[in-house]
Amino acid sequence: MQVFKEKELLDQRLSQVKLAGKTIGLVPTMGALHDGHLYLVKEALKSCDQVVVSIFVNPTQFDNPDDLEKYPRNLEKDINLIKNISEGIIVFTPNANELYGDLIASEHFDFDGLDIVMEGKHRTGHFDGVGTVVKLLFKVVQPNKAFFGEKDYQQLQIIRKLTEIESIPVEIVGCPILREESGLARSSRNERLNDLQREKAAFIFETLKETKTLFGTKSANYINEWVEQQFKNYPFLELEYFEISDAKTLKKLTEKREGEQYRAFIAAYAGDIRLIDNLALNN
Ligand code: PAJ
Repeated sequence: MQVFKEKELLDQRLSQVKLAGKTIGLVPTMGALHDGHLYLVKEALKSCDQVVVSIFVNPTQFDNPDDLEKYPRNLEKDINLIKNISEGIIVFTPNANELYGDLIASEHFDFDGLDIVMEGKHRTGHFDGVGTVVKLLFKVVQPNKAFFGEKDYQQLQIIRKLTEIESIPVEIVGCPILREESGLARSSRNERLNDLQREKAAFIFETLKETKTLFGTKSANYINEWVEQQFKNYPFLELEYFEISDAKTLKKLTEKREGEQYRAFIAAYAGDIRLIDNLALNN
């Protein structure tokens, strides 16, 4: 399997792929790979001739230096997991100066309000950092398709917007959330949960599913209050936010409109571990 740390060498390799008329699929990650990431890789293999997985812990999307430092890194393990899927996959794992140049800083984007709600509200500058690094990765790899998980649904919508405002010719493919048997969305943070927390965290998905049932007959206000009450009565998790939003604009639902798609979003803490999840409400 080929692992590149330098843009130029990757570019030379990918030029051959493009010359041969083959399609390229990019799966951007920050490493610490789990089945959720590997699912994206498998989806990419289904529809692209050459899959590139980037592994890069992006400093500009962390608002807290401590989080950046503590972010799990295990390149050797990640490479083996990818190798087990296919030897033909290319891994791109640059260091920060290689990808950014001398100035490691975020560009500022106008994401049309998508970045000021939910995760954006709670993590200042986060989505400018994500937009900056994904734009750099698109520039280096020039993929035909790029794969992102609905686990980070807001990020997925922001990347779609990024390609629109920057006129980047890439198809963004959103992939469904891979879950543990209990329903808990897979995440590298789940490894930090103790057994009891891990079991009790399944409540997040349970609540989202009940929200979906209520959505048929009840108002957004009713459901908001119902969810808040559910969490108040549940000692194992602390709710940070619950929102029902338009699936495209991410604007908070005030009044249901015919033909529009809506999604419910939850962020909650199990101890000091922050978990997020979301579910489509009307499909
Ligand atoms: P990271 O958290 O490593 O996630 C990489 C991709 O895996 C994202 O598209 C994320 O939505 C997807 N993913 C994570 N858990 C998943 C699950 N349970 N089911 C389906 N997909 C899942 O997201 C990032 O990295 C970074 O912000 C990045 C886009 C790489 C930019 O730095």
